[in-house]
Amino acid sequence: MRIRRTDTSIGATIDDVDLAELDSAAFRDIYRAWLEASVLRFRDQVLTKEELQAFSERFGPLEYAPMGKITDEQRANVPNPFVTNISNIIEDGRPLGGLGSGEANWHTDMSYIERPPTASILMAIEVPEVGGDTEYCDMHAALESLPAELSDHARTLSIKHDAAHDSVGALRRGFEHSASPMDAPGCVHAMVRRHEESGRDALYLGRRQDAYIPELGLDESEALLDKIWGYVALDGHRWVQQWRKGDVVMWDNRSVMHRRMSFPASNRRLMHRTQVRPVV
Ligand SMILES: [Fe+2]
Repeated sequence: MRIRRTDTSIGATIDDVDLAELDSAAFRDIYRAWLEASVLRFRDQVLTKEELQAFSERFGPLEYAPMGKITDEQRANVPNPFVTNISNIIEDGRPLGGLGSGEANWHTDMSYIERPPTASILMAIEVPEVGGDTEYCDMHAALESLPAELSDHARTLSIKHDAAHDSVGALRRGFEHSASPMDAPGCVHAMVRRHEESGRDALYLGRRQDAYIPELGLDESEALLDKIWGYVALDGHRWVQQWRKGDVVMWDNRSVMHRRMSFPASNRRLMHRTQVRPVV
């Protein structure tokens, strides 16, 4: 197994490994590399959904994929609620998965719940000819880039993370648009969070849409969020994943945000996804 860091502050590629056949020493090295690089890419993997699930479960118990408000009965009808499809493909008039082919804005997965997933893992089954890249940005670096006064202020504040919209801005099942970010549903988290395992502080912004700083009035909140978002994804703090079939990419939602570039709707893109619950 070979681990190569990228030339930016995040990301590493790991070669010569089969994620379906990992011994515990290799897993320990992967875990350490994940904490250090925040985003890992494994190429040329051939994993069934069950094997992807088994690899993911080595990092902790899995989180259900976000499906909006659904009943236990509806959830019971989902073939595997832990390994889901991200796809624009329509088969027999029904979408094979979520999120379509549009651009997905910068976000952290499921930050609107009390205990958001630590790791998210994607495996490329079908990739478009062009577009559909996933870009990551370093949120430890974003915090360090803030001027001291702004950083000190950020440490005193929190953010309410909107639960109503997904990363392409569409409403989740069972939710409605809010008249104001102040009224949007979702959990409140500290704006600066300490990574439980590395001990490093990071900005924790979730996503921009309908975010709100409860300590401030709406206008102040909007202005401050815009200002802080100006320090996100600066040069040297980003890494782009251009997908090849068989790529598995996992990232740490406590340390990075991600976004997806759009791709032609006529191209097919299919990813399998898992998410890991926090254990500490
Ligand atoms: Fe996401």
